[in-house]
Amino acid sequence: MVIKDLKIRNFRNIKRIDWQPAPGTNVISGNNGEGKTNLLETLYILLNLKPLRMGKNFKPLINNKESSFFIRAQLIDATEKYEKILGYEEGNKKLQIDKQIVKAKEFIKNSYCIFFSPDEAGMVVDSPGVRRKLMDRFIFSLASDYYEKLILYKKLLKRRNLFLRDNYDSRLIKSLDKNFVPLANEITLKRAQFIKELSPLFSKIWKQLKPENIELSLRYDKSLDINNNDAGFKFYQQKYEQEKRMGRTNYGPHRDDFIFYAENIDSKHFLSHGERKIAAFSFNFAYLGFFSKVVKRLPVIMLDDISAELDRETLERVFNLLNTYDSQKFITVLSGKKQLLEDFVDFKDEKNKLYHIDNGSLKEYESILQ
Ligand SMILES: Nc1ncnc2c1ncn2[C@@H]1O[C@H](COP(=O)(O)OP(=O)(O)OP(=O)(O)O)[C@@H](O)[C@H]1O
Ligand SMILES: [Mg+2]
Repeated sequence: MVIKDLKIRNFRNIKRIDWQPAPGTNVISGNNGEGKTNLLETLYILLNLKPLRMGKNFKPLINNKESSFFIRAQLIDATEKYEKILGYEEGNKKLQIDKQIVKAKEFIKNSYCIFFSPDEAGMVVDSPGVRRKLMDRFIFSLASDYYEKLILYKKLLKRRNLFLRDNYDSRLIKSLDKNFVPLANEITLKRAQFIKELSPLFSKIWKQLKPENIELSLRYDKSLDINNNDAGFKFYQQKYEQEKRMGRTNYGPHRDDFIFYAENIDSKHFLSHGERKIAAFSFNFAYLGFFSKVVKRLPVIMLDDISAELDRETLERVFNLLNTYDSQKFITVLSGKKQLLEDFVDFKDEKNKLYHIDNGSLKEYESILQ
């Protein structure tokens, strides 16, 4: 997928941008607070219909002196070319594809991107819930019915917890388990399979970026280790008294996690901050490789503040890896570190361009020097 002809109005500190991004690598330099992340967020929201930062609310995205925002882009995907418009005003989203009003599901269909920022390093040490969310998002992009199953599971889990907490008749729980157990089993298996397939890709990228370091792999840590539904019913029956005492469901995919393993130890206990960032980066790029193979599409790659915390050697390896992906890329960097990226991206190639953002205004770098 390639983003062309981008038009932004009144999005956060960006009052107006009309931009023809390069089809290869777009590097955007700027000082703190000038709009680098905001610019990536416009692309992210156009593809995912979700703000990058906290929450789902679109209101904080409107420029604080205005009452609406608007993003429009031409997208080229394999042989298809279409225009997407996202407008937001007074609590209402206006979503259009080729001037036709569409629903959210249609709007984000076939829109794929990878967004990576230094904050992602947190995923290695954050609570399991953060990793579960990421894993579920990735699986959902590969199997669209997964989301509905998760929603149903959460609904049943809530009811099951209520039954346990309020001491409902055990027959009611047994009856609910007829739906709950197969779903818990299916989600567990799907996640475990996903992590198993991702792990060799992850280890390979990690080794490419940190060859001198210990080996890392991924492991799915499950609380429900069953092969079939009958074993599941039995398992939950055995745990019934314990779960009743605690008033909640203690086993199932809602308690699971995946772990970055280093020689049988959870690596979060010893990886440095930069190493965590590389591990998180490797996880995202392993998914990208996996995804491109399965879905046969090229997601847009967005890297926010890429140079933060990475030494020159690692950064060079990151760029060597990035160059193996034909995706369109958007990479932001602090003005002071721009030089570093100029060493790794060939700006003589027409497909790559260098830009500067200043107070929400974007200019091609050449024009600033003239
Ligand atoms: N709704 C809004 N209206 C106007 N300005 C906003 C709005 N939301 C955020 N901003 C401003 O946008 C700026 C932040 O932009 P952004 O996060 O893109 O900066 P950045 O260039 O990525 O900086 P850094 O290098 O620190 O990450 C801040 O000055 C913030 O006050
Ligand atoms: Mg930023």
